[in-house]
Amino acid sequence: MSAILSRINVDYDQPIMAGPGTAASCSTHHAWARVPVEPSPSERAALKERIRSLLKAKNAVMVSHYYVHPDLQDLAEETGGIVSDSLEMARFGRDHAAQTLVVSGVRFMGETAKILSPEKRVLMPDLDATCSLDLGCPIDEFSTFCDAHPDRAVVVYANTSAAVKARADWVVTSSCALDIVRALKEQGQKILWAPDRHLGGYIQRETGADMVMWNGACIVHDEFKAFELQALMKEHPLAKVLVHPESPVDVVALADAVGSTSAILKAAREMDAPEFIVATDNGMMHKLRTLNPGKIFIEAPTAGNSATCKSCAHCPWMAMNGLAGLAQVLETGMNEVHIDPALGLRARLPIDRMLAFTAALKNGQPRAGLVPNIGAA
Ligand code: 13P
Ligand code: SF4
Repeated sequence: MSAILSRINVDYDQPIMAGPGTAASCSTHHAWARVPVEPSPSERAALKERIRSLLKAKNAVMVSHYYVHPDLQDLAEETGGIVSDSLEMARFGRDHAAQTLVVSGVRFMGETAKILSPEKRVLMPDLDATCSLDLGCPIDEFSTFCDAHPDRAVVVYANTSAAVKARADWVVTSSCALDIVRALKEQGQKILWAPDRHLGGYIQRETGADMVMWNGACIVHDEFKAFELQALMKEHPLAKVLVHPESPVDVVALADAVGSTSAILKAAREMDAPEFIVATDNGMMHKLRTLNPGKIFIEAPTAGNSATCKSCAHCPWMAMNGLAGLAQVLETGMNEVHIDPALGLRARLPIDRMLAFTAALKNGQPRAGLVPNIGAA
């Protein structure tokens, strides 16, 4: 057991920008140092078996993100849970009858699950799995930013703390941000956007909305390089390029399809091409390859003449999730996510708005009627 729980020690520090006027740094050293060692085949089989029976015994269900280890993706599906993008993780956790949700992903995903289901127990393999966007948007600075723009609807990405969500009018994920901002713009609202500057820039270009922006970035997507991507595209002239909108503008400009993790999966399935170059966390490759056995998927470059590879297209915090940690939390009940109930209630409102908006959109209902005019409220 102790061998499985020991950690690889990898040194790595990546400075990032925080909000306007501030300069924070974000270290991933701690995260890389806690990435679990791969279990041997026999340990792996034993852990999976143990998790299967613990899930049943504890009336628990797994909720995994596409970026976590393939074992945690497959096991979630095999046991009646889900592997999905962050929007569907939130919806699934809220709607599932299980009293315990085991969220494999990063902290904001566990917190969103708890906010939506305060009566359920939400466990995570490692509670220190965070996100550079969340780290780069501290509540005090963010509140000051909001106070400076009282006339704007506050729209925050799901990759934020519960406190930041509680300060927002809307929470969005990358799969619905475009539709929600477009609807707000149609209502004549001006937007305060946080924290991802690349996703915000993409939405601004697509919608023409009036947006002021926080200056955060995802350390994984920020590293994709347009110059090297162009060279790779020349080597693979038949390949289509799929890009997550957390990537820099010059990378997005080269894309055949831009979208959330689920939109990338959809594009790969629907586009008639033999090869795809994919600019998102390489945890996605597992699902892309499993669902499209006849197609070839190539990672977009994060390194080259103009760059130094830092995260190498894999999120260190997502990588902290492992089978051993998952078995341990199920067994002991440790690593439970707690949210102050009053804060949770305030954070829930903008998340509920997002879920109601996307549900109505799915049912073909006119979206404008669903969007309360925050500025006028
Ligand atoms: P998706 O919502 O596209 O899954 O992305 C969430 C994310 O940023 C995970 O890191
Ligand atoms: Fe955050 Fe980027 Fe990791 Fe997603 S991949 S959790 S956005 S740091």
